[in-house]
Amino acid sequence: MQTYPRWQLSRLIVALCLLTLLVPITRGLAATLQCENLRCEYLKDPLGLDETRPRLSWIVTSIERDENQTAYQILVATTEAKLRAGQGDLWDTGKLASDETTQIVYGGQPLTSRERCFWKVRSWDRDGKEGKWSAPAQWQMGLLGPGEWSARWISATNPANPGESAGVPYLHKAFALPSTIQRAVLYVSALGLYEVHLNGQRVGDHVLAPDWTDYRKRVRYQAYDVTALLKRGDNAIGALLANGWYSGHIGNGGYQIFGKVPAFLAQLEVTYKDGRTERVVTDGSWKFQASPIISSDFMAGEDYDARMEVKHWDEPGLDDRKWSAVTTREESVPLEAQVMEPVREIVELSPKAVTQPTPGNWVYDLGQNMVGVVRLKVSAPAGTKVTLRHAEMLNPDGTLYTKNLRKAPSVDHYVTRGGGVEIWQPQFTFHGFRYVEISGLPKPPGKDAVTGVVISSDTTRTGEFTCSDPRINQLQSNIQWGQRGNYISVPTDCPQRDERLGWMGDAQVFIRTATYNADVAAFFTKWLVDVDDGQSAAGAFSDVNPNTMGRGGVPAWGDAGVICPWTIYQAYGDKRILERHLPAMIKWVEYLREHSDGLIRDRDRGNDYGDWLAIGSDTSKELIGTAYFAYSTHLVTQACQALGRTEDAAKYGLLFQDIRAAFVKKYVASDGRIQGNTQCDYAMALKFDLLPDELKPKAAQYLEDDIVAKGEHLSTGFVGVSYLLPVLTQNGKADTAYRLLLQDTFPSWLFSVKQGATTIWERWDGWTPDKGFQDPQMNSFNHYSLGSCGEYLFGGIGGIRAGSPGFKDIIIDTVIRDGLTWANAQFDSIHGEIATSWKRDGRKLTLKVVVPANTTASVVIPAANPAAIAESGKPTDRARGVLFLRQEADGCVFRVGSGTYSFSAAMD
Ligand code: BGC
Repeated sequence: MQTYPRWQLSRLIVALCLLTLLVPITRGLAATLQCENLRCEYLKDPLGLDETRPRLSWIVTSIERDENQTAYQILVATTEAKLRAGQGDLWDTGKLASDETTQIVYGGQPLTSRERCFWKVRSWDRDGKEGKWSAPAQWQMGLLGPGEWSARWISATNPANPGESAGVPYLHKAFALPSTIQRAVLYVSALGLYEVHLNGQRVGDHVLAPDWTDYRKRVRYQAYDVTALLKRGDNAIGALLANGWYSGHIGNGGYQIFGKVPAFLAQLEVTYKDGRTERVVTDGSWKFQASPIISSDFMAGEDYDARMEVKHWDEPGLDDRKWSAVTTREESVPLEAQVMEPVREIVELSPKAVTQPTPGNWVYDLGQNMVGVVRLKVSAPAGTKVTLRHAEMLNPDGTLYTKNLRKAPSVDHYVTRGGGVEIWQPQFTFHGFRYVEISGLPKPPGKDAVTGVVISSDTTRTGEFTCSDPRINQLQSNIQWGQRGNYISVPTDCPQRDERLGWMGDAQVFIRTATYNADVAAFFTKWLVDVDDGQSAAGAFSDVNPNTMGRGGVPAWGDAGVICPWTIYQAYGDKRILERHLPAMIKWVEYLREHSDGLIRDRDRGNDYGDWLAIGSDTSKELIGTAYFAYSTHLVTQACQALGRTEDAAKYGLLFQDIRAAFVKKYVASDGRIQGNTQCDYAMALKFDLLPDELKPKAAQYLEDDIVAKGEHLSTGFVGVSYLLPVLTQNGKADTAYRLLLQDTFPSWLFSVKQGATTIWERWDGWTPDKGFQDPQMNSFNHYSLGSCGEYLFGGIGGIRAGSPGFKDIIIDTVIRDGLTWANAQFDSIHGEIATSWKRDGRKLTLKVVVPANTTASVVIPAANPAAIAESGKPTDRARGVLFLRQEADGCVFRVGSGTYSFSAAMD
């Protein structure tokens, strides 16, 4: 049954309410533009910013069609009261003629450390009518330089050996605040992972803070408003400190890559009502003691002995006389503010089934391959050791299949304190799993013994896609779960085995899909700094970032350093990301030029991965290298153009032409055949614009021929797969794109869906009925790369594409073919909600479109005769906000302004 799209329902309700309100009011009286969703550096009310010229954005909403902002006014004030009174003492733009609502660079008084900035905005509509002020928003500056920190790094070290960590300690410090508190902010960081508490309560909801960076180059800090957690009189601060990425096991054998002993840093800044200030900082006066966390490691898991819990460890009044003194140490690593959404617990899952495949071992099925931890609820005599093992799949006998975890045991242990129900979850590890096995209990655990606690970098969900084929809906769900589980502080390859690294190739093939599913602008703003940090002096981008493997220069992997900033610019109109990364992007292209012969990448391709995990085809690695050299050069050219750097644009434009010529000369025959004749060849050559115009239809034909020859199957790996469907469609082969997408025999996207997958598999043949599991050395069941077809669900079938960076101009060009009868796509762009909903009944087509205020869209209706197309039941020339533009091969193109439209037509 067709589900009613969320946006249609909510729109209907809003429209009905507004209609009731507006009946007695003429349009002339209604203020039509409302500013909402105010954000600063992509974040809602961020606390602790280093950006001294932060960018502001909002969306405008209206009940009118074809509505635009013609001017805006921003006020930024030092206090809420001033803002309320309309005094923008930090910045008052006045009424500024502009249709921009995004990436507005703050241009007021210079901002200093700790500055609080309260802001609001209003807009003028197309008739020059003034809208109401938005609800207030705010941001607060962080600590803008090393001089602002008086805290010292502290560690818990073995008294006998100060170079050795004393495990996962409790840290503690009691302090008095003699006066009434006005406001308090806590600035915290760690080389390792921390959880910080004040007066018995956990501060904030971040998980795995302070996030992963190359700790040799920079470490992030967080700021928390802790006013409500403090009181006049006696207070205490406590923390737990663990190894995490800094000094624990990370992927591919990495151990203690950044350091041996974790360190903690905290600076509590209190402002009293009388204006005086006070600081409580980490220093040599802090004490530590072993915590119940016996050990914690990403790969190994976490061991916890509840009998070792110390009551009131994070409260004043603790008797810490027997606790040890911390050691302090100097660190020169720069502290930088958090710039993205933190990792958080985002959802909880209850078990779908419990079995007991072997005596005393209970296996819980959470029904979804997920990333996070188990919250355990048990009741057992004191000292009972409960073991939790995790797995993505089961063996045929119902026991856990853990071989593919390689050297990541992923086992948690909990030793009970006894005396009733106990609830526990690990704090400083995470696992990728669907199944969890509990053992060690004297009695069978209840079904509620296990809750799956899902963690992810908490990027806001922005996209929904559903259609008439439930298998595709499951595929979309698998893609989203893959993104959720692998965006853990950095974009990783997989979350379960001993890898979990920021693999560049995976990140770049998936990023276009990612930008539809969630707002990943801030996430990539942070990670792209890690990417530049990992670039070699010669210009080679490394394979993984943070760069823990120390190797790079690989085609399609290194190119992520160019493709990702470019994609973020396209998706969010973010020119700053281009500006900041252009030097590194250029350096990469120059590296490629340097490491080529006659512009052919015939050498120095690092640990070349080719079209990784392709099936039934072998694309030349040299050819892939040359194609990507051209592509990165082309993107650098366009980036230079976007930034107004015309000389560089001309220079790299010429280089692109030359690489293209070298590519054609070396790999393309006069009849358009590309060396190797693989699907990946043609997909890249068409996507990267490497062919002369006359050869493009031929290349598309060869691509289609190969798919047909393989029985409507793909044969691409990570690289080629991301371009197949868009390229086929843009080159007149949409029918084939549909057949490929809807294929469910091996290899195909729906093959794994048919096997019951709930996430995207690393390999097309991760498990097959005839062969069982693939090689466990390389067989993740939660790898998003092959899910890069998600882009096509939104941009192809749903037809939502950016006509200009940031979706200020929108293209609505749905691809409707046999196999689907309806599809709904909804995408919250940086300019507001865009949605399409089409339904096909024989030749009759209805297409509903939502276009946000202050944007325009070109809508392609797949029908030849404009006169046979209606909008809301009327001929289109009588429909408000609709303008017929032209007839194209695919149908009629209309320009529409903002609003909700309902087109109907007879399809050709
Ligand atoms: C990872 C991939 C990665 C690849 C390089 C693997 O071990 O899991 O996703 O891109 O190595 O080929």
